[in-house]
Amino acid sequence: MKLSVKASTPDTQKAHCVVIGVYEGRTVPDFAKRVDDAMGGALKQRLAKGDITGKKNQVNVLYGPEGLACDRLMVVGFGKRHKLKLADYRKACRRAAEAIRNSACRDVFLWLPEVEVKQAGVEQTSRQLAEALLDAWYTFGELKSEPNGGKAPKRVTICVSDKRQLKKAQSGVREGQAIGNGMQVARRLADLPGNICTPSFLAGEARKLQRSHKLKVTVLDDKEMKKQGMGALLSVARGSRQLPKLIVMEHHGGKKSDAPIALVGKGLTFDAGGISIKPAAGMDEMKYDMCGATSVFGAVIAASELNLPINVVGVIPSSENLPDGNANKPGDIVTSMSGQTIEILNTDAEGRLILSDALTYTARFKPVTVIDIATLTGACVIALGHYASGLMANNQRLADQLVKAGERSLDRVWQLPLWDDYQSSLDSNFADMANIGGRSAGTITAGCFLSRYAKEFKWAHLDIAGTAWQSGGKEKGATGRIVPLLSQYLIDSSPKRR
Ligand code: BES
Ligand code: MN
Ligand code: ZN
Repeated sequence: MKLSVKASTPDTQKAHCVVIGVYEGRTVPDFAKRVDDAMGGALKQRLAKGDITGKKNQVNVLYGPEGLACDRLMVVGFGKRHKLKLADYRKACRRAAEAIRNSACRDVFLWLPEVEVKQAGVEQTSRQLAEALLDAWYTFGELKSEPNGGKAPKRVTICVSDKRQLKKAQSGVREGQAIGNGMQVARRLADLPGNICTPSFLAGEARKLQRSHKLKVTVLDDKEMKKQGMGALLSVARGSRQLPKLIVMEHHGGKKSDAPIALVGKGLTFDAGGISIKPAAGMDEMKYDMCGATSVFGAVIAASELNLPINVVGVIPSSENLPDGNANKPGDIVTSMSGQTIEILNTDAEGRLILSDALTYTARFKPVTVIDIATLTGACVIALGHYASGLMANNQRLADQLVKAGERSLDRVWQLPLWDDYQSSLDSNFADMANIGGRSAGTITAGCFLSRYAKEFKWAHLDIAGTAWQSGGKEKGATGRIVPLLSQYLIDSSPKRR
């Protein structure tokens, strides 16, 4: 969906629906005054009577508002003026977007960018608004006879009343649109079931981006992996009838000589655990074990749509992890592409195996930085829950940049230590390392394992096990999380154009 931007006045706008914001209290904010005047003070009256309170997330719709040119006026509450944080602004915008989706409005104009947010201007509000709309209007209907959950409008225009704010709104919406599009692609691929979205399917979807997004896409098959010596990746794939793929997608926006930023995403299209099989309850959610990979799709798409003047390379090792007569067994020892040997004590710790070879392979692009993204450990869900993704890094400056990007994009991460003390938990009697540490600090020991394959570059690891999807019940589905953070990091890493 394409979002338009316009400087205009809400009272004269013909539309199915005009959306404005109000604060808590009885005063009409400046930007809603025009609407109130045109309505002969009807808005003020409703605020005074308490029909509209302006409380956070309240959404009221006035049908056939007298004096206005639109069919409906939607009034969104943003809570106390001067206290509004960007995250709360985004939440209220989402509520409005949900109300629109569940209504008959097909043509919508939103005057929300000029709502006053603490430490954020129109550029940021516009971007968050655009992201919130696309986020709320994502549906996964392709495998249902009758899609549920309402319908996104056909025409959407984000408006400012002050012409001087137009440029900022345009630039914010442009970013929000690109990130929102990236998130939608990421969510769809993740929501697709394991029997459809296989490694080969994923490779096919990547190839489509050659045309639509001018990316360079190359796919390594198992024979090439063997040539490269990717013994760890191949060992995981051995238990599956689906052939593994290593997908590489490149965005060339910078100079030829510019070293790329590499994003490496775990792409387990289904993780049953292998011989160390997982319990049955909720196992369907292991189709989401490819959310690292889908976030790489999303971020690379955003970089391409924003024409970022940098080079980005996405590397996706993709496989299934299933029990089979040919699968990895506990105690098996495999040789990774780096030459280091690994004793597989638990076949369910497969993500780090496929990532180790992908990281080694990534060195050939001579990247400035490497960020891997993975639904790597259940322990991360226990440690951080569903709000923050886990961050570990071998370079503090990079870690700081990612923390900042997370705050700016409202897609936050929390750093965990990668001290040497933890490394010894990976000692093996028979190989260079074991693929699991003990019971304690599972997220960190997984990070330690990966660090052994990232010695040659500046590297960070993001564990998105708790943030990439929502579990169980009605809300079950991919979130698209970490696409905003990665996109923000790429934007921040781009030289400013003059
Ligand atoms: N994909 C899982 C991690 C996971 C589990 C993510 C639950 C989200 C929810 C990963 O491959 C895995 O199975 N990890 C094991 C590691 C253990 C065997 C050291 C885990 O977390 O239990
Ligand atoms: Mn696993
Ligand atoms: Zn896994």
